[in-house]
Amino acid sequence: MDWAVYLYLLYSVCAVTAVQGNCPAKCHCEEMKHSKLNQIQCQGENITDFPSPIPVNTTYIYIAYTKIPSLKPGDFDSCAQTLKNVNISYSGITEILDGTFNNTHGLVVLSIRGSKLKGLPGQLFKNLRDLERLLLDRNNITGISRETFRGLIQLKFLDLAQNALRIIPEHSFDDLENLEELYLSQNCLKVLPVGIFSDLTALTKLSLSENCLQTLSVGVFEHMPLQELWLCDNQLSSLEDNVFQNLSQLHLLVLSRNRINSVSVHAFRGLSALTELSLHTNELQTLQEGTFSRLTLLANISLQLNNLEYLPGKLFHGLPALRRLDLHNNSLPNLPQELLNSLDRADEVLLYHNPWHCDKDIGPLKDWCRINSHKVSFQCPYSVIACNLPIFITETVEDVIEDKIKDMVLIILALACTSIITIIVGIIFFCRSREEKASNLPAQDSENDVHME
Ligand SMILES: *[C@@H]1O[C@H](CO)[C@@H](O)[C@H](O)[C@H]1NC(C)=O
Ligand SMILES: *[C@@H]1O[C@H](CO)[C@@H](O)[C@H](O)[C@H]1NC(C)=O
Ligand SMILES: *[C@@H]1O[C@H](CO)[C@@H](O)[C@H](O)[C@H]1NC(C)=O
Ligand SMILES: *[C@@H]1O[C@H](CO)[C@@H](O)[C@H](O)[C@H]1NC(C)=O
Ligand SMILES: *[C@@H]1O[C@H](CO)[C@@H](O)[C@H](O)[C@H]1NC(C)=O
Ligand SMILES: *[C@@H]1O[C@H](CO)[C@@H](O)[C@H](O)[C@H]1NC(C)=O
Ligand SMILES: *[C@@H]1O[C@H](CO)[C@@H](O)[C@H](O)[C@H]1NC(C)=O
Ligand SMILES: *[C@@H]1O[C@H](CO)[C@@H](O)[C@H](O)[C@H]1NC(C)=O
Repeated sequence: MDWAVYLYLLYSVCAVTAVQGNCPAKCHCEEMKHSKLNQIQCQGENITDFPSPIPVNTTYIYIAYTKIPSLKPGDFDSCAQTLKNVNISYSGITEILDGTFNNTHGLVVLSIRGSKLKGLPGQLFKNLRDLERLLLDRNNITGISRETFRGLIQLKFLDLAQNALRIIPEHSFDDLENLEELYLSQNCLKVLPVGIFSDLTALTKLSLSENCLQTLSVGVFEHMPLQELWLCDNQLSSLEDNVFQNLSQLHLLVLSRNRINSVSVHAFRGLSALTELSLHTNELQTLQEGTFSRLTLLANISLQLNNLEYLPGKLFHGLPALRRLDLHNNSLPNLPQELLNSLDRADEVLLYHNPWHCDKDIGPLKDWCRINSHKVSFQCPYSVIACNLPIFITETVEDVIEDKIKDMVLIILALACTSIITIIVGIIFFCRSREEKASNLPAQDSENDVHME
């Protein structure tokens, strides 16, 4: 082998060592010249300190499932100028010290999920003017201040789900004028101050599911171009007039699994783009005529698992787009003809598990069921289809079946009794007749006995 080859090998070994020498122990560093992506990955519970130093020119830091207790000023200094994406997830971080991100001006994505953060210093993100995605979900953050999200003017996506937030101070989101998605689900927010979202003029999706909300004030959702609003699994008991006013771009409104027992007639006023409304698993007993008026694009209404006892005939009038209506598991004895007429274009109407009354008024529902029976998903209840008028005027089919069973039991009992009596009478008769025969020939018998002895 000539010197050139030796030199080349030596050079290669040194180059590799150099790269590895810059990479902190227990981490893996990669340089991709073409894409200008320089990344460092550190993973495992045996990592108990922040990896140091992060190689210069690193753009992407991935740290996961470690036991790093905190993040502090200086941790990112070696790569502050180039850093774009930081993902430090499922690590034991309990604290981020003030100033940690003061110099990482170009950061676009910051994800610190699944750690043990209880709070965040005010102004922590103040210099992150390019930050677009901030993920802080699955921590234990108990409070934020009006300073926490200051300066995040490019932020599009903020995830604060699965924390321990109880209140959000007014003006907390004032700078987030480009925010498109905000996740606050799985906290325990009790109230939303009016104006809390009023500067979120780009917000299209807001999730507040699984919180402790008891009321919604009128005006709290104004000003946002929301398309989806998730409010399921809270403790709402009523909806006031105009509570969703100005949400003229909302497609989806989810209010299921609350305790809603009253919906004011103008509660949904202004929701002119709504296509899907979920109100299932609440405590509604009825809804007023006009509640859904002018929701001309509404296609899907879920009302199952309520206590609905009565629905007014005109409830679904003026809903030309209605395709799916779910009314299963309610307390409905019947549906008025007028209401059924407005379900002409629906292709899915779920009615099962209601105490349909098989009385003289069931006619329209029964006819409607027969006419629509070709639509597989209509699932007309057997108690309506099998309701035979005018024989059982006031009983439900279930009652009738029960009665029939009772009748049958009685008949069987009667038959059994008759048979037993007949048998007993028969036996008595038989015995009597034998006795009579015996008493006619007593001498012979005793003679025979005597002879045998
Ligand atoms: C640290 O843990 C990771 C994953 O758990 C493992 O792959 C690695 O070998 C460990 N390193 C040391 C130095 O123990
Ligand atoms: C970091 O990037 C700059 C600009 O691309 C380059 O001049 C410098 O040599 C790089 N430093 C290292 C250690 O790779
Ligand atoms: C960060 O890494 C975690 C763990 O691998 C992953 O679940 C999460 O989706 C990542 N976050 C981002 C924003 O890519
Ligand atoms: C970080 O910036 C904030 C606000 O600009 C400042 O108050 C703080 O002293 C800085 N911290 C460090 C460690 O540089
Ligand atoms: C969250 O914090 C509360 C109160 O400090 C504590 O009781 C709870 O164990 C913490 N939960 C987690 C998952 O760290
Ligand atoms: C909200 O709607 C109400 C009633 O339609 C209207 O008076 C008000 O100007 C609207 N507000 C905004 C901010 O659009
Ligand atoms: C209506 O809701 C059902 C069940 O959530 C869903 O599968 C369907 O796609 C929805 N249809 C429309 C038109 O929104
Ligand atoms: C729905 O109603 C049926 C019949 O009344 C009942 O057996 C069932 O438990 C109900 N389902 C729920 C989820 O309440």
